[in-house]
Order: sequence, then C-alpha cells, then structure tokens
Amino acid sequence: MLITGAAGGIGRATVKIFCEAGWRVIGVDRADYPEQFPENGLFIRADISRPEEMENIFNQSRAFTDKLDALVNNAAVQIVKPLVELTVEEWDTTMASNLRSAFLAAKLAYPLLKRSGRAAIVNVSSVHAVQTSASIASYAASKGGLLALTRGMAIEFAADNIRVNAVLPGAVNTPMLHAGLVRDHVSGGDLRSRLENLASKTVNGRIGEPEEIARAIYFLADEDQSSFITGQSLIIDGGATARLSTE
Ligand code: NAI
Repeated sequence: MLITGAAGGIGRATVKIFCEAGWRVIGVDRADYPEQFPENGLFIRADISRPEEMENIFNQSRAFTDKLDALVNNAAVQIVKPLVELTVEEWDTTMASNLRSAFLAAKLAYPLLKRSGRAAIVNVSSVHAVQTSASIASYAASKGGLLALTRGMAIEFAADNIRVNAVLPGAVNTPMLHAGLVRDHVSGGDLRSRLENLASKTVNGRIGEPEEIARAIYFLADEDQSSFITGQSLIIDGGATARLSTE
C-alpha cells in the first residue's frame, strides 16, 4: 500500500496498523519520517503538490512493487485565515496539496492498483467537507471536493475492482489539530484548555486518537472486510456532527 502524509499523526498510526497486519508499506511525506521506517517498507521524501515529484514517487514505487493493493490519500495542509485575506497562492497551495494530489496519485497509481485485482483507495477528507467554521474555507472546499472526487473515482474504477471510499475525521489529536486551534473557534486559554473545550463539544466527550482513524482506513482498504463498500463517506468524529449546533 502507499500512503501520503505518512510522517504526520494519522499517517504514522496508519503505517503502523498496515505493517502489523503484514502489508508492505510505501510512505510519502515532504517531512522526514520521525522514527525508523518499517524495514520491509519504503519511505519517499517528496512534495505531492508538485506533479513532477509525484511522477518520481510512482517511478520509485514501480521499482519497489509491481502492484498496489491500497492507496491512501492522507496528506493535507490547513491554512487558517479569513477568506478576504487569503491569497490566490494560498488557495492554490491548499488545492494542490489536498485535492489535485489525490487525483494525480490515483491516475499514476491506477496501473498498479488494477494489477492487484482487489484494490482500494481511501481518501482522507474531513468533517469540514460537510459542516465548517470561520477562517478555514479553502481547506473545507478542498475536503468537499475530495468527496465528489471519491464518488467519481468509485464509478470509473469499479470495473477494475478498485473500490474508492472516504473517511471524514472530526477532531483528532495531531499537530494539525493543535495548529488549527489558533482559529479561536473554541474559547481561549492554553492548548490544553482549548483541547478540553473542543472535546466537551463532541457527543463522546473527547478528541479522537490517530489510531481510531487508522483502523477505519484499514477497514476500508482491506477487501476481506469491506468488499461491497464503494463510493461512500464514513464520518469518524465522536458524534460531533450528530448534534444540532443550535441546541
Ligand atoms: P499532520 O499535520 O500531523 O499530518 C499531515 C502530513 O501531511 C504531514 O506530515 C505533512 O508533512 C504532510 N504533507 C502535507 N502537505 C504535503 C505535501 N504537499 N507533500 C507531502 N507531504 C505533505 O495532520 P493529520 O491530522 O495527521 O492529518 C492527516 C489527514 O487527516 C489530513 O488529510 C487532514 O486534513 C485529515 N484530518 C485531520 C483532522 C485532525 O483533527 N487532526 C480532522 C479531519 C481531517
């Protein structure tokens, strides 16, 4: 399997789960992997917002394996800014990292996925695809686009037995969540009190852990577990989007 954003919070948890299940993993990230990458895997340092680097990722991947059973489009950036202050460059950066990369990865991975005969793509979207807040519009738009792309891919790839689904995490304890708390969408104080405030707003009363998203990604990637699921979106948010915000 190949996962982008492998060095981040959800990425590392996902690499671990697939490795423990015996999969060979190709991890891609523009940041260094912060620990030893699993021995029988391959880590590629690259920026997926750059099409030429994406080509290079798949050249290296083809030298490593002749088929892919799963592609996980997980890398993303989140620029926190009021819409009227957002520059065209920032908008383009968000779309290139979060949305165009998923299209390009799927296109370049297609021959390898097709050869598997039982492959899956999992796109990591966000609850911001369906409900959102201030100062995060470009991220929300990229994640909404990813859901539409998921359905389009599912239809086009079905004949090759490639299933395509999306997960929509809510608040998950990773560097991206911590950085995003500067949006002031939860009341102030230090990081800990902001996290507690955020947690209190979910039905479960807590923030998710990266492993809880990784397990859902694994479920949707594994043909043995989810062979009849395609074109779908799974919200994993401790119930946050289940509650009426007006109550
Ligand atoms: P993270 O910030 O810990 O990890 C993201 C990783 O993607 C980083 O290692 C970063 O270097 C990499 N990355 C970003 N742009 C890249 C590029 N152009 N090329 C190569 N690598 C790139 O964040 P986290 O939380 O692990 O995010 C993983 C996914 O989960 C993202 O798609 C994010 O939008 C999604 N998500 C996270 C939520 C959260 O609360 N943490 C909530 C909803 C969705």
